[in-house]
Amino acid sequence: MSPALKHFLQFKDFSRDELEHLFARTRVIKDRFKRYQPYHPLADRTLAMIFEKNSTRTRLSFEAGMHQLGGAAIYLNTRDTQLGRGEPVEDAAEVISRMVDVVMIRTFEQDIIERFAAHSRVPVINGLTNEYHPCQILADIYTFIEQRGPIQGKTVAWIGDSNNMCNTWLQAAEVLDFNVHVSTPPGYEVEAARAGLFTTTHYEEFADPMDACRGADLVTTDVWTSMGFEAESASRIKAFADWQVDSDMMRVAADAALFMHCLPAHRGEEVEAAVIDGPQSVVWDEAENRLHTQKALLEYLLRGRVED
Ligand code: CP
Ligand code: NVA
Repeated sequence: MSPALKHFLQFKDFSRDELEHLFARTRVIKDRFKRYQPYHPLADRTLAMIFEKNSTRTRLSFEAGMHQLGGAAIYLNTRDTQLGRGEPVEDAAEVISRMVDVVMIRTFEQDIIERFAAHSRVPVINGLTNEYHPCQILADIYTFIEQRGPIQGKTVAWIGDSNNMCNTWLQAAEVLDFNVHVSTPPGYEVEAARAGLFTTTHYEEFADPMDACRGADLVTTDVWTSMGFEAESASRIKAFADWQVDSDMMRVAADAALFMHCLPAHRGEEVEAAVIDGPQSVVWDEAENRLHTQKALLEYLLRGRVED
């Protein structure tokens, strides 16, 4: 029997209890994978992946993950489908969700995925929108827990753009009760409503990125220009010049601080090469954990609370 229909459109769609279940399942599923133990709870299930933007990690982790769970994944992009020729997203949702068991979408405005989900018979997963990137933050938090233990009460420094990654960290801080120190250039500050926050109690804004990093348990950043904002690239390079995560920032963070970046990264822009390629960086584990956390997510959405 399938569990009740549930989507993962933004991080706060899941409660702390559900997230703790996902992290526990991730550990089990990752461990089985590392030991080459077959685990096929999604035999005969199909995932449709709809991409309106480029991807390496998201496509690969969902496609490989479905395969490893015994199911199949179908890649669709807007260029090849009727969505690219103006078919209404609601109609596409009605049809696609009659043919597959779960859908992942990477698109522009959050409104598009919300409209799709409202017309879908099956779970819909946000594979990145302009506003949020919840699957990435699942992997990031799992990586933190794996390396440093519980994230509750810890401090994450977010340096750079208040983009989809930043918004999702802020939502996660509310759900999992940790703090985010945000430092953005003037004009690129957090918009609490766009970030979908209930309160402003779990983050603090700092004019100087060094102050945001001071004592932080995790320092993280992302590209200065996200997909869909390429027209602003030249002005962003100027505005963000002092927001490069460098060795000085890592030095004022906690001794055991980690560095994360969702990738793809631009060394010499948002991060100094010595940081992303240095001893505090866990970016490759972070990327790998996309696979394991999303397998737990797919299992939960399609099978409910599996405990074995
Ligand atoms: N981090 C991430 O989502 O990477 P891709 O754009 O390659 O999917
Ligand atoms: N903020 C980036 C993340 C890429 C994975 C973007 O939206 O392009």
